[in-house]
Amino acid sequence: RRPVSLPRLAQMRAAGEKITMLTAYDATFAAVADAAGVECILVGDSLGMVCQGLPSTVGVALDTMAYHTASVARGLHRVQGTAWLVADLPYGTYAESREQALRSACVLMQAGAHMVKLEGGGWTAPTVEFLVRRGVPVCAHLGLTPQTVHALGGYRVQGKSDDDARTLRKEAHELQDAGAAMLVLEMVPAALAAELTAELLHCHTIGIGAGNGTAGQVLVLHDMLGMNLGKMPKFVHNFMQDAGSVRGAMEAYVQAVKQGQFPDNTLHAW
Ligand code: KIV
Ligand code: NA
Repeated sequence: RRPVSLPRLAQMRAAGEKITMLTAYDATFAAVADAAGVECILVGDSLGMVCQGLPSTVGVALDTMAYHTASVARGLHRVQGTAWLVADLPYGTYAESREQALRSACVLMQAGAHMVKLEGGGWTAPTVEFLVRRGVPVCAHLGLTPQTVHALGGYRVQGKSDDDARTLRKEAHELQDAGAAMLVLEMVPAALAAELTAELLHCHTIGIGAGNGTAGQVLVLHDMLGMNLGKMPKFVHNFMQDAGSVRGAMEAYVQAVKQGQFPDNTLHAW
């Protein structure tokens, strides 16, 4: 297999092949996901909740992200993995200035990331442009942005009203124009996510709780393995249920996404 790269992802998109992404936080899970055919591994700041036991992602430090990113990168390297490695810029490490964002991004890139992800729209577009111009690939993240959960008032669907949808669309276009090559859409109505996907040809939409009309899908590893300790979000499917192994569950996820069977808009979307 060839390493997954931005040109390869663009080829997949053009060919109508869905892009698969899973989170991973350590060497072994990352290597198994890679072997299962997952194209993109996200070292998400969700690790604050699933690895560190924090109440939200707000308390995750840049050093912690770098530690887990380096572990994942080594895991992929050891097995000659081909996955595209995305790492989250955590809370408080990119909002102060574009320079702060670049410094933080460099820490994650030097830990082995291929791309960094940051949350939010509007003010983020100049930051994205600043990073992209300096050779740091960026994935944006709109809709439910967990780092601002306290400002949003909870984990709920975003972009439901016409006004909110208009704002989200404007921000998505600004992020594409700024050079974001990928865009996570979290908990947004399936119809809106599908429209944005049709509009944003240079920015691959990756949905989570955003229906099946996006260019790709992402799930939190522990959720799709049925290891969620709290309330299982509606958009998750437990792929471990009918699999005999973690590798089998990941293969089932890849197959279900590629064949358009997951997510099912009647079960996992809004
Ligand atoms: O941190 C994370 O796991 C994420 C995904 C849910 C997109 O940002
Ligand atoms: Na995240």
